[in-house]
Amino acid sequence: MTDAYTPRPEDKFSFGLWTVGWQGVDVFGPASRELLDPVAATYRLAELGAAAVTFHDDDLLPDDAEREATLGRFRKALDETGLVVEMVTTNTFSDPVFKEGAITANSREVRRYALAKVLRNIDLAASLGAQTFVMWGGREGAEHGGSKNVAAALDRYRDALDIVCAYVIEKGYPIRFALEPKPNEPRGDILLPTIGHALALIDELDHPELVGLNPEVGHEEMAGLNFAHGITQALWHGKLFHIDLNGQHGPRFDQDLRFGAGNLRGAFWTVDAMLGAGTDLRYDGYVHFDYKPPRAEAIDGVWESARGCMRNYLILRERVQAFRADPEVAAALDAAGVAELQEPTVAPGESLDDVRAQFTEGTFDLATLRERSVAMEALDQLAMEHLLGVR
Ligand code: GCO
Ligand code: MN
Ligand code: MN
Repeated sequence: MTDAYTPRPEDKFSFGLWTVGWQGVDVFGPASRELLDPVAATYRLAELGAAAVTFHDDDLLPDDAEREATLGRFRKALDETGLVVEMVTTNTFSDPVFKEGAITANSREVRRYALAKVLRNIDLAASLGAQTFVMWGGREGAEHGGSKNVAAALDRYRDALDIVCAYVIEKGYPIRFALEPKPNEPRGDILLPTIGHALALIDELDHPELVGLNPEVGHEEMAGLNFAHGITQALWHGKLFHIDLNGQHGPRFDQDLRFGAGNLRGAFWTVDAMLGAGTDLRYDGYVHFDYKPPRAEAIDGVWESARGCMRNYLILRERVQAFRADPEVAAALDAAGVAELQEPTVAPGESLDDVRAQFTEGTFDLATLRERSVAMEALDQLAMEHLLGVR
């Protein structure tokens, strides 16, 4: 079926090979699906309309003996499909060697091993033309209060980022790093739990310009946060280097649902934020999905969920564009005074005495201000009706 929601390469959809490749292993049971050859998955994703793939070293190259052969098959798949590798990331969480952390493990030997694994993978990323390198510190954290010197762990996090930045500069690789926050899972508490924490760490680095964020919908929502607000703040700091779209039903375990499932209203505002929410501050990178096809699905459901991620993005994009183009929405935005927030509170050249004088002279019309209409329900109802497809 081809329709207005059929993905095209210019939509810049990208999938982690570990998403469709997830075999359904969870804490209660083993794999429910056969191992999917990552190269076969690359061909299938291209057929479905993706423009790019991403992977952890171990997703594509789990076996060192097969490394060159698999890489050869993978490069051929890229050539034949026109897909690119836009992002690469390192698995520093599965091997029990990382059970107590990787670049922030208490064990220095583990930290050195983790760093070496990351550096080798940066070389691979560069050789495949990836320009974004994600750092998700899944095991960087703790279950106990006294077991981790958090300040020292942040020192080591900073050191590791300074080292990898210096490395890409030395090598001349056109690669930027993107930190992926997550509040918990697999660790009880993970360091850099939210977008805000990660942004703050970037300020402490030698090369802050090379480090940004890869926020994931579900991870912010697990912490009860508003993803659209989070990515807008990342954009405002010039730090939305990459994105992981998926779905989540509020604060609970990391569900990694297909994009659009879970918090659908959140997904609408997420797409709106990515498109700039009526401003010039927009995301222009790859639209990357990091989700897990539910364990209950067989392989047909895996591909259906991948298709669903892209279709839901395109449907939501259409709804968001219709919302932003609707003259009634423009009037509702006016009525809600949304544009007025762009006006500085104190005018250029104005003295603070003027503001304070207004206070002491009692010229603020508080009665009117208290009673004024904010007209926000009306605006939100228009958004809802666009989302529900009745406008
Ligand atoms: C998760 C994470 C991971 C990371 C990925 C990048 O769902 O907990 O999103 O999937 O994104 O491993 O390293
Ligand atoms: Mn997740
Ligand atoms: Mn992710």
